[in-house]
Amino acid sequence: RMRVAVLISGRGSNMAALIEACRRSDFPAEIVLVISNKPDAKGLETAAAAGIATKVIDFRGKGSRQAFEDAATEALEDAEVDLICLAGFMRILSADFVGRWRDQVINIHPSLLPAFPGLETHERALQAGVRITGCTVHFVRPEMDNGPIIAQVAVPVSNRDTADTLAARVLRYEHRIYPLALELIASGRARLVDERVIVDGDIAEQPALA
Ligand code: GAR
Repeated sequence: RMRVAVLISGRGSNMAALIEACRRSDFPAEIVLVISNKPDAKGLETAAAAGIATKVIDFRGKGSRQAFEDAATEALEDAEVDLICLAGFMRILSADFVGRWRDQVINIHPSLLPAFPGLETHERALQAGVRITGCTVHFVRPEMDNGPIIAQVAVPVSNRDTADTLAARVLRYEHRIYPLALELIASGRARLVDERVIVDGDIAEQPALA
């Protein structure tokens, strides 16, 4: 099974969805480490309760990015990690880190990328008046919220939505597509070819998306 680390900064509900999926005996990945850059991240308790090794790497201020990334790479190497899943991880990773882990880092973002990269995603989607938004799992490249797309789901916007109600609706689909994307990558059914992800079979027929 592919050895996976999850990087979080907070609640960790996407991490929990990945942990749940990995419990299936036929799932092609296992989570061997959860790293948080925040000591008080709720997701740390969830991971520990599931019996998964956790590590807090908490650096702030000048030089903190390098210090975080050096410590993270050491922990990831020690754990012999094959793939890193960013799940509500709110730090930007340097080009050096992304290069060290080239094609081994994936992320979930709560919009239909390339629309609405960055923060305050749902506020900006409502402001723009889009009728459809969604969520995206993609390979990480040095440019924020950019990189080859593995899976996406479209989610309708209600005219009564606030940023909170829209976030909650999108989050339910995040919890489906992140395990699906991980399964596709870990099983080798999704592969990077010329900076696009090729999926064996029809991704639209995946039960998780029905
Ligand atoms: C999720 O909606 C995730 O897509 C988003 O933060 C939330 C984390 O929730 N990520 C980003 O906005 C990254 N730019 P979680 O901690 O419960 O998974």
